[in-house]
Formats: sequence, structure tokens, C-alpha cells
Amino acid sequence: MGEVPAANQTAVAVKDDLRSVMRNFATGVCVVSTFSDRASPRRHNALTVNSLTSVSLDPPLVSLNIRRDSTFLDDLMESQVWAISILDAEAEDLARIFSRPEQDRRKALCTLPAEPGKETGALLLDSVAWMECRYRNHVVAGDHLLIIGEVVGLGVNDSRSPLIFLQGGFHRIGLDQV
Ligand SMILES: Cc1cc2nc3c(=O)[nH]c(=O)nc-3n(C[C@H](O)[C@H](O)[C@H](O)COP(=O)(O)O)c2cc1C
Repeated sequence: MGEVPAANQTAVAVKDDLRSVMRNFATGVCVVSTFSDRASPRRHNALTVNSLTSVSLDPPLVSLNIRRDSTFLDDLMESQVWAISILDAEAEDLARIFSRPEQDRRKALCTLPAEPGKETGALLLDSVAWMECRYRNHVVAGDHLLIIGEVVGLGVNDSRSPLIFLQGGFHRIGLDQV
């Protein structure tokens, strides 16, 4: 292999450094679901995501950042709706299942308890809190697509602690901790 040009070396170094920096930023973990009606019956799809961000309260908007080559994204852009289930501290297995290849994820959706959201029909899983969203806007951002959705349904299920993702692993915290 030839030498990597200097500009590329910088890009590679920043990419690695960015990973090292961002792994210290604790997030919650959610499963985002959508579906495709390209064939009948409807085919549901879902993905583990930690890029959920609150964008605006009036109107109520949230964003997700999804890899542009993800087949999940094709389904979401087609249906224009999605549901977000914020996982609880005991749901590490769900987070792992929905970060697997698409076929495994679809199979899991057939067996796990889930019900279609009233506003969108996208599946909601057992969660601490949930939202249903309708497509509002998107921004192409490098190898990801930043998707902004309007919140059209939401709820808090109970006071269980949420699952935390930090330094490449899943963690639990007590709700009384600061
Ligand atoms: C904790 C966690 C958070 C993740 N967050 C995102 C995310 O915000 N956006 C994203 O595109 N993929 C995210 N992923 C990766 C996806 O869950 C999934 O592995 C990958 O996109 C596979 O998609 P594909 O089958 O469409 O290739 C995350 C994975 C984990 C375990």
C-alpha cells in the first residue's frame, strides 16, 4: 500500500479522536421503529439509536442521526413516520438485538411484545417513555442523515431508570444520583 496523503492522515486522526471524545458523552438509548408498505403485509423495522435529541418545544421537534447507507433509513423516509421507545436499565438485551443486522431485527419484532402507536402505526416496545413522530425535515450531514420529526404522540410509562450508554458500554444509574 502507498503512503496516505497528509490531508487524509489528519482526517483519519480526527475521526479516531472524535470517537475518543464522544465516547465520554453519556446518552440514553432508544429503539426507533418504522415500517414499509412496499409489499403486503406491512414489514416493520427497528434500530437501536443513541442520537436522539430534543430540538424544539414549540413546535415539538426531535432529531435522530442515522447512517445514510442504513436500509432502516429507506423505510423511514418512505413511511415518513416513526416511533421511539426509550429503553429502561434492564433492556440491554433489546439494545443489542436492535443493533444487529436487519434480518435479525425484523425477526425479533415478530416475537417481542410490541404494539402499533395510535398516531403512526409504528411499533412501540416496552419502555420508560415513548414518542411518535412525523417527518418534518432532514439535513445531509457527512455519512449520516439528520432527521427532524414533529412529535405527534408521547407518553411516560413509569419511573424505571433509563439505560445509559457511556464509554462503549451500557450502564445503570439510580434515579436519585446527580
Ligand atoms: C448504543 C447504540 C447506539 C446507536 N446509535 C446509532 C445512531 O444514533 N444512528 C445510527 O445510524 N446507528 C446507531 N447505532 C447502530 C445501529 O443500531 C445498527 O447497528 C446499524 O445501523 C446497523 O444498521 P444496518 O443493518 O441498516 O446496516 C447504534 C448502536 C448502538 C449499540
